[in-house]
Amino acid sequence: MIVYNEKQKYFNLSNKYISYIMNIMDNGQIGHLYYGNKISENISVSHMFRQRGCILAPCTYKNNLDFSLELMRQEYPAYGTGDYREPAYQLRMKDGSRITNFIYKTHKIYSGKKKLEGLPATFGDEKDVTTLDIILEDSLINCQLILSYSIFEDLPVIVRSANFINMGDNDLYLERALSMSIDFFDSEYDMVQLDGAWSRERHVHIRKLEKGKQSISSSRGASSASHNPFFALKRKNTTETTGEIYGFTLIYSGNFIAQSEVDDYDVTRAMIGINPFEFEWKLKKNESFQTPEAVIVYSNSGMNGMSQTFHSLFKNHLIRSKWANKVRPILINNWEATYFDFTEESILKIAEKAKSLGIELFVLDDGWFGERNNDSTSLGDWDVNYKKLPNGIDGLATKINDLDMMFGLWFEPEMVSEISSLYEKHPEWAVSVPNRNMTYGRNQFVLDFSNDEVVEYIYNKMADILNCGKISYIKWDMNRNITEAYSKILPNNRQKEFFHRYILGVYKLYEKLTTAFPDILFESCASGGGRFDAGMLYYAPQAWTSDDTDAVERLKIQYGTSMLYPISSMGSHVSAVPNHQVSRETSLKMRGDVAYFGTFGYELDVTKMSDEEISEVKKQIEYFKNYREVIQLGDFYRLQNGENGRFAWMCISKDKSTAVVAFYKVLAQPNPSLKKICLEGLIPYGEYYCEETKETYFGDELMNFGLICETEFTGLIQEDSYKGVYHSGTDKGDFTSFVYTFKLK
Ligand code: DGJ
Repeated sequence: MIVYNEKQKYFNLSNKYISYIMNIMDNGQIGHLYYGNKISENISVSHMFRQRGCILAPCTYKNNLDFSLELMRQEYPAYGTGDYREPAYQLRMKDGSRITNFIYKTHKIYSGKKKLEGLPATFGDEKDVTTLDIILEDSLINCQLILSYSIFEDLPVIVRSANFINMGDNDLYLERALSMSIDFFDSEYDMVQLDGAWSRERHVHIRKLEKGKQSISSSRGASSASHNPFFALKRKNTTETTGEIYGFTLIYSGNFIAQSEVDDYDVTRAMIGINPFEFEWKLKKNESFQTPEAVIVYSNSGMNGMSQTFHSLFKNHLIRSKWANKVRPILINNWEATYFDFTEESILKIAEKAKSLGIELFVLDDGWFGERNNDSTSLGDWDVNYKKLPNGIDGLATKINDLDMMFGLWFEPEMVSEISSLYEKHPEWAVSVPNRNMTYGRNQFVLDFSNDEVVEYIYNKMADILNCGKISYIKWDMNRNITEAYSKILPNNRQKEFFHRYILGVYKLYEKLTTAFPDILFESCASGGGRFDAGMLYYAPQAWTSDDTDAVERLKIQYGTSMLYPISSMGSHVSAVPNHQVSRETSLKMRGDVAYFGTFGYELDVTKMSDEEISEVKKQIEYFKNYREVIQLGDFYRLQNGENGRFAWMCISKDKSTAVVAFYKVLAQPNPSLKKICLEGLIPYGEYYCEETKETYFGDELMNFGLICETEFTGLIQEDSYKGVYHSGTDKGDFTSFVYTFKLK
């Protein structure tokens, strides 16, 4: 999959889908030539690195207008020697200078891929993946730079990272160390990004690339709800199913930057990595710095093609948990049912009722520890509140297990409340700057996870509880971002290492817990989807998608999230109406039909439901159990994305024998036109029986003509007053949905 052409000095990484070609430029640095559809392996690349000179461009060599870094398409560019675009890295030397020259020394090609020390990253064995390490050296400062690239045999994906090793006697300071940079030939792209805020995370935004920089980032200490560490560059005419698109993400949960810069010559520099703002890393002799891994996906089958590639990479080569390719238990979470106000008795009532409905996992949310009866106290005091739970967590878990249900528990490991025994004992463990005001976020402070002692303490507290052996699931919450970033254990000239060290501490705790308790299913959460990223997925195979459980809002959130995250990773629950976030009333059917496209569960008080609702919930659970394998382990397609307020999604089993298709309508229109959706991924000549319409269709018929969705209602005529007037359609009113199940005959 990887060859080096000695004569022309280029590397060609290719599989049956893609080619990624780089060359060693005349100055010994690495140039970028091509990334896209697979092209022949033994090409002559000389025409690819043809440059045109510019009389005013800064030139590396005297009287050679043809070699200017300003005009070169590069792989991991530096600033200061002719290229005025943003660089991939920046090093500061002892004398204060920032000029470097990393030139090619050697390279290694090997099967498989190495682990990244302390960081989440993709994995694959020797048959799955091949790796290229390009070793560059700046001999003046005795520093090595290793650019690592891995290509997967079966996916149009390259993953890459950089590693700096100081082999000299003098300290070096990394002021910037991104994971990836690629200079694309032109700028005829739209940039796709996922933006939002708490409770409206990952809304899709698409903008035309313009000259200059367009970037998204986080400086909150978490990847954040504001911008997801993802962007894509798509051609103007790319649709969900056709056309070219490049998708980029970072396997990282802390501060990031993702940027496209269009230069004077319409070259687009795409880059992603740790946010250089508030970052610096000291490298002493023999120390190295490993950047997080970046993922680059290419698709020539549109946005669905890109998403399916991300989904399959994450499920097979990123999520380490044994749950990665298993269907998830249907859960009930008590948060919206009780908030902090519960007792063992009230919890057991909900659990018993849930069990009778077919629910498999009971999750006890916030409020079970310390004196936590509201959000102002007790974070950090991970000891059970016996007033609420007289038999402790062990006792409650036993009773839930006796119902033949799994038991899950909520933690917020990274936080401490001002009112807590932990804060009384260790105020210095809270992130703060001495003698400065401490900013509050949900009445709580952040623990200094850059300090191993803190991580160890929290691990022991959590392990004490988990050692009872009756806990099958953990919801790991994180409800505020970092302010007054500062660590009391770091020297004053290394404070800019804090943010990265913090997230390494979070990963350390995840690593310890997932190693000690490998069977536990982890769900990450950050006030909903405030840290939904590939770094988290490595440890926690699912994430609470959003605190917003309203079915209509969830259409937009789950649509955006599906751009790169698998359906099986999206926590999705049916909640009560009026909805607690937007006060909207939607039908139980629509709430269920939306929640199906995720992990599926309930977050309401099932003891308060009417008989009619109970029987509908039973049917939903039965349906989901029959088809969750198709939904969670099959291939996902977006069929319609909110045009006229209509959304349509589809999952099809890997063998293409079963498909679940959902169609959602937000607002009703008067006298509407007929609506149909074209399905995807079916066997063209296969005959599919639809259980709901009771008709049989050919695959190609459904993919080309499509399926006319439940005919919309044309107008309400009061039968008493207007007898004889015919009113068509069954799809009445706002907020409706239909699910169709197709089976190959
Ligand atoms: C925020 C989460 O997103 C909610 O689901 C819930 O767990 C609360 N925190 C509990 O405090």
